[in-house]
Amino acid sequence: MPLPKAELHLHIEGTLEPELAFALAARNGVTLPYADTEELRRAYAFTDLQSFLDLYYALMAVLRTEEDFAELAEAYLARAAAQGVRHAEIFFDPQAHTARGVPLAVVVDGLGRALDRGEERHGVSTRLIMCFLRDESAESALETFEAARPWFGGRITGIGLDSAEVGHPPAKFREVYRRAAEAGLHRVAHAGEEGPAAYITEALDVLGVERIDHGLRCLEDPALVERLVRERIPLTLCPLSNVRLRCVDTLADHPLPAILDAGLLATVNSDDPAYFGGYAGDNFDALAEALGLDDETLRLLAANSFQASFLPEERRAALL
Ligand code: HPA
Ligand code: ZN
Repeated sequence: MPLPKAELHLHIEGTLEPELAFALAARNGVTLPYADTEELRRAYAFTDLQSFLDLYYALMAVLRTEEDFAELAEAYLARAAAQGVRHAEIFFDPQAHTARGVPLAVVVDGLGRALDRGEERHGVSTRLIMCFLRDESAESALETFEAARPWFGGRITGIGLDSAEVGHPPAKFREVYRRAAEAGLHRVAHAGEEGPAAYITEALDVLGVERIDHGLRCLEDPALVERLVRERIPLTLCPLSNVRLRCVDTLADHPLPAILDAGLLATVNSDDPAYFGGYAGDNFDALAEALGLDDETLRLLAANSFQASFLPEERRAALL
């Protein structure tokens, strides 16, 4: 039995496996610029975050109907459950769909259709976190935020910030994070993946985030590390992603041991598993193998994942 765990850093669009992409393309009359799944898989040779994002956004063209989004989420839940995931706080990128003419309701209701049955079918509880694309304007984020109000406190329980990091500091999104706090939503942000440690500090100070997604580069600022430890701010690490996007050279070089030694609340997640070579359990297994992690460390990482989740305390305790 795989270790029970929560997944806190997972982009649902990043779970689009090549087989499903081709099936949806056929169903929706979308022509993909790849002959077959093998050729598509060969394109997964990324050199940095942007080279991944280009393909990630392009492939979303196959997602058009509520049923498409429901199938995507259902496939993720089945895979995640098989790897021990009992709770998932799932990101989605509304602007990447509305910009293609897919209404927000199609995305949220389609995902919701599968997620609402997640506990009963797969034993996986879920939350949805709406991410803003940081390389789009602050105005676009605000418009998206306002359009999503009907789902606040229902299907949508938090906001996040993703896409191209460098050159798009957190402070650009001050106003939308202020409104989210006012609306009682949780707040997280990608920071310190490719961007500098200063973006992590800014996300805490200006956006009031409760968790940092990635946060790898915090190690470059000892005062920041001290603060993250003191304030018990979790980091949602994604080891296979870090290797594929060349944030670290190999898994054996991953800074997880230094992060744990510093007393940080680290969690292990899959980010975009269809693109980076594995789901949550695969990330645990690959790290354990490459770094020689013992069972106690793996149990700590699994416990951290529930601790760092937005589940109520009693549900967290029940899952631990
Ligand atoms: N970083 C930034 N944006 C993203 C990622 C990521 O790892 N995955 C999907 N969108
Ligand atoms: Zn991510």
